[in-house]
This record gives sequence, structure tokens and C-alpha cells, in this order.
Amino acid sequence: MSKQIPMSNHTSEKATQDTVLTGITTTGTPHLGNYVGAIRPAIDASQSSDVNAYYFLADFHALIKCHDPKMVHQSTREIAATWLALGLNTDNVVFYRQSDIPEITQLTWFLNCVAAKGLMNRAHAYKDSVQKNLDAGEDPDYGITMGLFSYPVLMAADILMFNGTKVPVGRDQIQHIEMARDIAQRFNHIFGEHFALPQAVVDDNVAVLQGLDGRKMSKSYGNTIPLFLPEKQLKKHINKIKTNLLEPGEPKDPDTSTVFQIWRAFASAEQTASMRKEFEGGIAWGEAKKQLFELINDEIKEPRERYNELMENPVFIEQKLKEGAEKARAYSAPFMAEINKAVGLYSLA
Ligand code: TRP
Repeated sequence: MSKQIPMSNHTSEKATQDTVLTGITTTGTPHLGNYVGAIRPAIDASQSSDVNAYYFLADFHALIKCHDPKMVHQSTREIAATWLALGLNTDNVVFYRQSDIPEITQLTWFLNCVAAKGLMNRAHAYKDSVQKNLDAGEDPDYGITMGLFSYPVLMAADILMFNGTKVPVGRDQIQHIEMARDIAQRFNHIFGEHFALPQAVVDDNVAVLQGLDGRKMSKSYGNTIPLFLPEKQLKKHINKIKTNLLEPGEPKDPDTSTVFQIWRAFASAEQTASMRKEFEGGIAWGEAKKQLFELINDEIKEPRERYNELMENPVFIEQKLKEGAEKARAYSAPFMAEINKAVGLYSLA
């Protein structure tokens, strides 16, 4: 609770400290790929008291892709429980739900009024949808909502609302951060210097995990291993990882093996070296998978228990999110008052 709410980055006294900000869209259940690629590094970073970080559940973004209210609600609960169970330090980072911050929607409108439509036309996600329609012989706009079209503006509002300067994201999101930068510059040019310019941070050291079929682990490929499966199910999923047909005793190539690739994401350097030797010595696939299960299970056993407890205790999760929203709004509310003034919306009296 000792966390200081910083002044806007553009003000001189805090200009040197970066604000790390990232959002997690609340569709789907977290899987091992999310854990290794995004959640684990973000939670590690939250242990340091000199980070200035905002992590949030992007539930407005969820509405763009998902019109199933139960699923959006359930996913919000699962994702919040996951982050808390894994030990996110909510004293050091501000952890909140996007829809609890009314200033974000207001800022989205202001940004809509300066963002160029031509810029949005170039967004990959939108262009892909148009292309799919054209390929299918449909009208180019078929099934495309304004939510999808203006998705980058909402994302810009998320970032600019807290003057995020470093935004950890996957490669697919880099364009959105560049658009946020563009929109911020445009606003600053018209209304004065209010927003810091964000930068995408893509960590090449963080593993992009392979899924059951060897492609990138991703919900859209249906090849994921959910993070908090019960032990038996986890074992079953690991047994489904695709391997070649080499027999026990035949040397195996670790560098083309999904089992080894996942192993490496959970193992220490020594454990990785010794598994490499085991592969060269012809370890049986069944044995390698058994060891992989144990390695992963050891790491997530305790958080899984906490996760199951939290899932039974949504009131606690809700309270954590409300505390986070309060801290976030201590920044966003006064900042938004400043922005309102900047565009000419303020009291006549
Ligand atoms: N669009 C991001 C994704 O799908 C999630 C997100 C929403 C986000 N708002 C953000 C990420 C702001 C970083 C900053 O991954």
C-alpha cells in the first residue's frame, strides 16, 4: 500500500521513471504458453518495489471478440485468480480491471476524435478480416464491427491513460503500440504535451512455447495445455505432445522436440543439460514425458491449490480488483480532468 502514485511522465520530476503497462484480454483460460511467455515474467517483475507498473484485465477488449457473457465473466474470474495465485505482488503493481476505470472509455472518445481513419485502415487485425471476406467472396465489411475497427484506439487509451512508456507485448501487438504513439503525438500536437510516447517491449529471451502439435501454443490452434488442469489431466495432456516414432534406446534430437522445448522453459540450466544427454542416450518418449510432467507439476502445484481456493472465493478476487481500481483511479481521474480542460470541456462558472 506504500506505492506512490507517480505524477504524469511529462512533468519534470518523474520524467526519468518508466511506467510499465500491459493488458490481458479476458477471453479463454490461461495455458502454459501464456504462463511462460507473459505471466511468469510479469509476476517476477512485480516482486521488485521499484517498478512502476500497471497490469490490467482488458475486458472491454474481450467484447470485441466474444459475445458470450458467461464466457467473458468466467474468463475474467479465471485470469484474475491465475495472476493472484501465482503470487502477483499487488502492493508493487496496480492490478485492475479495465471496465472499472470510466476514464478509459472517456479518453477513448477523445482519441477517436483525433485518430486518423486512414491509420486504422492499416491495422493488421482489421485488414486480415477484410482479406478473409474478400477471399470468401463476401462483402469486405461482412461481420466487421466498429469495435474491431477501432480496437487500436481503445488500446491507445489504455496506455495513454497512465502514461505507459514501456509496454510488454507479443510481436503481433507492436503495430498497435506504434499507433498509440501516433495518436498521442497527434493529440499532443493539437492540445499540448499531455501524453508520454509509449514503446513496445518485446523480450526475445522469453520462450514462445510450442503446443501439442509442435506449432506455437495458441488457443486459436486448439493445441494448448491449460495451466491449472488437475494433475491427472495435466499428465494426459503432456502424453498427447506429438513425438516421432523413435524407440527407447534410439538417440533423439532434443532441438527438434516439443517435449524438450517445453522442458527447457521450466528447467534450470543443469536440468536442461542433463535432459539433453538423456535424449542423446535414447530416453524413451514415455519416460521423458513423465519427467516433464513432474517438472511442470512441481512448479505449479502450490499455485494450483491457491487458484482452486480463489476460484471458490470470487468475493476476495473482486475486492483485490476494487483496490486496484482505486489506486488506478487516483491517477486517471485527476489526469482526465486535465485532459478535459485541455480539449475545452470544463465548468462555465
Ligand atoms: N490487445 C492486447 C492483446 O490482445 C491486450 C491489450 C489491451 C493490451 N490493451 C492493452 C496490451 C494495452 C498492452 C497495452 O494482447
